[in-house]
Amino acid sequence: MRLVKTIRELKQELEPIRRSGVTVGFVPTMGYLHEGHLSLMRKSVEECGFTVVSIFVNPTQFGPGEDYDRYPRDLERDLSMCESVGVDLVFAPGVSEMYEPDACTRVTVSGLTQNLCGRSRPGHFDGVTTVVCKLFNMVRPDRAYFGQKDAQQVAVVRRMVRDLNIPVEVREMPTVREPDGLAMSSRNVYLSPDQRRAALSLHRSLRTAADMIEKGERSAAKIRERMIDIILSSGLAELDYVEIVDADSLRNIDTLKGEVLIAVAVKFGQTRLIDNIKVVVH
Ligand code: PAF
Repeated sequence: MRLVKTIRELKQELEPIRRSGVTVGFVPTMGYLHEGHLSLMRKSVEECGFTVVSIFVNPTQFGPGEDYDRYPRDLERDLSMCESVGVDLVFAPGVSEMYEPDACTRVTVSGLTQNLCGRSRPGHFDGVTTVVCKLFNMVRPDRAYFGQKDAQQVAVVRRMVRDLNIPVEVREMPTVREPDGLAMSSRNVYLSPDQRRAALSLHRSLRTAADMIEKGERSAAKIRERMIDIILSSGLAELDYVEIVDADSLRNIDTLKGEVLIAVAVKFGQTRLIDNIKVVVH
């Protein structure tokens, strides 16, 4: 496995690979890797001849007062994890390599970014789409792998790829959970033992929603009410949102029908966690 830190080296490494016609898979990450990231890398290694992983804590997707400075970082650990699943190349640039000091171009996906995390983190998705677009231009992958835990991010990236005709196939992989149901996240390390216990209410609320739907409930209001009860009864939760939206448009719905995304964002102390499920309702 090779590690490169500059765009020039990245190009040099990738040119012969592309010329040989090998399929290039790409997993963009912000590092501090966990089993969720590894599952994306394994999929890429399985489906593609060459797998590139980027590790870059992207400052432009963090708002003022968010956790950019204290976001966990451990490149050595990340590299050995990448190596353990057969990644071929890691691109780990610094901020000055990624952004010219006078950069003034941003990629904005409107509409899809207004609801859910876009509402509570203004500007976040502009940061994500701008850096992902830049990374796609640098790596020029055939396939790129994202986790369903960030369902809105996947929807927004997909739309960017479609609207800008970026020649990459976006693959969405299932959320990987701890044995007790907590969705894996680099931010889980911030949680105290009490907060970690309370955070299980997210998955519990989503499972309850799935059960209610299974039993025939179609009212978004009733499902939300029950989910909010479960999350607040954990004691330590500060609710950001519990939303039931159409999985394609990400607009709120009153009655469940078609593919539906049920998404939650909750703060435990300073730590904001998100989780979701998708259900198809007939
Ligand atoms: O999901 C993430 O880790 C980030 O948003 C991404 C896609 C690597 C862009 O910085």
